[in-house]
Amino acid sequence: MLTGKEIVLGVTGSIAAYKAVELLRELIKREASVTVVMTEGARQFITPLTFATLSKRPVLTDLFTLDYHSRIAHLSTAEGADLLLVAPATANILGKFANGLADDLLTNLFLAAHVPIVIAPAMDLHMWQHPAVQENVRTLQARGIRFVGPEIGELASGLYGPGRLAEILEIIRAIEAILVSPQDLVGMVVLVTAGPTQEPLDPVRYVSNRSSGKMGYAIAEAALARGAKVILVSGPTSLKPPSSVETSFVQTAEEMREAVLKHLPEATIIIKAAAVADYRPVRVLPSKLKKTGEPLTLELIPTPDILEELGKKKEGRILVGFAAETENVIEHAREKLSKKNLDFVVANDVTKEGSGFASETNLVTILDREGHVEELPLLSKKEVAHRILDRVVALLQKRRGG
Ligand code: CTP
Repeated sequence: MLTGKEIVLGVTGSIAAYKAVELLRELIKREASVTVVMTEGARQFITPLTFATLSKRPVLTDLFTLDYHSRIAHLSTAEGADLLLVAPATANILGKFANGLADDLLTNLFLAAHVPIVIAPAMDLHMWQHPAVQENVRTLQARGIRFVGPEIGELASGLYGPGRLAEILEIIRAIEAILVSPQDLVGMVVLVTAGPTQEPLDPVRYVSNRSSGKMGYAIAEAALARGAKVILVSGPTSLKPPSSVETSFVQTAEEMREAVLKHLPEATIIIKAAAVADYRPVRVLPSKLKKTGEPLTLELIPTPDILEELGKKKEGRILVGFAAETENVIEHAREKLSKKNLDFVVANDVTKEGSGFASETNLVTILDREGHVEELPLLSKKEVAHRILDRVVALLQKRRGG
């Protein structure tokens, strides 16, 4: 079911536009609330009245109208949505999406939306196979947009091959996989660390790193959605944790260690996404360090390696670490896996585009104790979080002998 989910359904000018009616009916049957946005091309194939009648909402077509609350339609619609689905999507709309063009309501909405986006293309065989279209698809996929189909089959032109809109139930399944989380962590207590640590030097300065905390917060949210009790130990970030997550805010590595050890007895799963500073200034100066014009040497000493300590105390817990690397990613990650006694390690090359600290996406490789190396595609941090939790659940099931 999709009860309470707000879906924006974008319909574009393909012959398959009539199938979007069936798609809308299936969404409504699953109790989703759907706002339909039609391009001018789509309106050549089918009238807004059909969609308006089924969705019981006005169909949005015009960029320059205000919505019923006198707000700009593309912004208010994007704000309230849980997911944007574009089905059928033409070669033209893929080109516009990939290149950031915004000349109608749907393309503006696409740029304004900060929600998962699913695209189900439908077009003729040669159009789909054209290198320009394929490149646009790759560009969009690399930005975390999901594609369903097209399917192979008989096309409106009489040709046979890929180009048919995916089966309606296939599209629904893709949406459910994104919007409905399995309740497979009920009864588990997931302890997550997130963000950087800051190691003070004097009252105004500190040593830190570029971590934004987004990956750790995404894991906390995903674990919560899957039914776990979640404890978050967070370094300084600009993010707001979900209200039902028990959060301890810390500044230094030592404070993070104390908070983690305090919650350790309760935790069954520990995921250390924090980028802990490895060194701190030997002493914190009581007043601001004054410049002398001379070179300055900072003396640093190592901070405690929290994960390594947890590795020694883990008992039956599942312990997951991260490895942020800039070279020899797999080799270094493998060392951390064994040295810190982890169940698996999530490695990323923070120098790669779309990967690492401030990014909304992440490109990671998961390495486990059995020697498996799983390279994930570029995904949103939310999706990476779910993939990590999928692995945790698989491990739990294995341990239970299931
Ligand atoms: N970690 C930790 N305590 C530290 C340093 C790191 O708990 N003082 C954890 C991180 O949360 C992460 C993992 O160890 O899960 C790996 O962190 P990373 O910075 O990639 O590696 P380091 O062990 O610090 O090694 P190096 O900096 O040499 O790569």
